Amino acid sequence: MTPKDNIPDLRKKGGPVVAIDGPAGTGKSSATKRLAEKLGFVHVDTGALYRSIALELLNQDGSRVDFSADTIVKVIAIAKTAQFQFKRDPKLNPSNRLFFNSKDVTTLIRTPEVSLVSSRVSAIPEVRAALLGLQRTLGGKGKSILEGRDIGTVVFPDADVKFFLTASVEERAKRRLAELEATGADVPSFTEVQAQISERDFADETRAVAPLKKASDAIVLDTSQMTLDEVVTWMEKTVRDKLAL
Ligand code: DC
Repeated sequence: MTPKDNIPDLRKKGGPVVAIDGPAGTGKSSATKRLAEKLGFVHVDTGALYRSIALELLNQDGSRVDFSADTIVKVIAIAKTAQFQFKRDPKLNPSNRLFFNSKDVTTLIRTPEVSLVSSRVSAIPEVRAALLGLQRTLGGKGKSILEGRDIGTVVFPDADVKFFLTASVEERAKRRLAELEATGADVPSFTEVQAQISERDFADETRAVAPLKKASDAIVLDTSQMTLDEVVTWMEKTVRDKLAL
């Protein structure tokens, strides 16, 4: 499926859509994955699309990524011609694998470098426009849960249930550090991780197009003092109540 697909009519949703927005480190991805499994809904991780484009740019430019006018033209071209495929084989891969231009990028897009570049890439209006139709196509079949930053405000403003997850920067940095430690990678200091999170929040919240913002009808959940199980249980109950499932 390519981002060039026409942007589908929002009124033709094929079933319920759940939107989950919020900054990084709130437990959003893990909670969305578990919630989708419990409800039997499709999980669409929209950040992975921006990350794939960032990875391709890093592959082309290396550490020289500078976001000059030429680079921006290049990124827009990457976004407009990108081919994405989500593949799932429950026996081999319990979770989705993402293929970008036929290459499995599932783990490659999870580095701190890709995180930083994806935030810059996602601020480019033409990149966002190129990915909008694809996100609506993936989610619009219904029985879907999309996670991102602008799902409830831009991608599916008419989503049936909208959540906005938050958590303190300190708590989010702790969780991020634990995640990095678990991968066995070189682990930065707590202060560095905290600074990276704050930097990314600022960039995501202040960009001109589709900034990270709570939709007026979103249900806010502060996960700072909650376990993942508690978050998922609460969300599942809320969705089932709202959708009468
Ligand atoms: O959720 P994530 O950390 O994987 O997202 C990577 C980047 O993409 C993040 O900086 C914000 C951006 N993003 C976005 O702007 N809109 C989305 N719907 C999803 C992610």
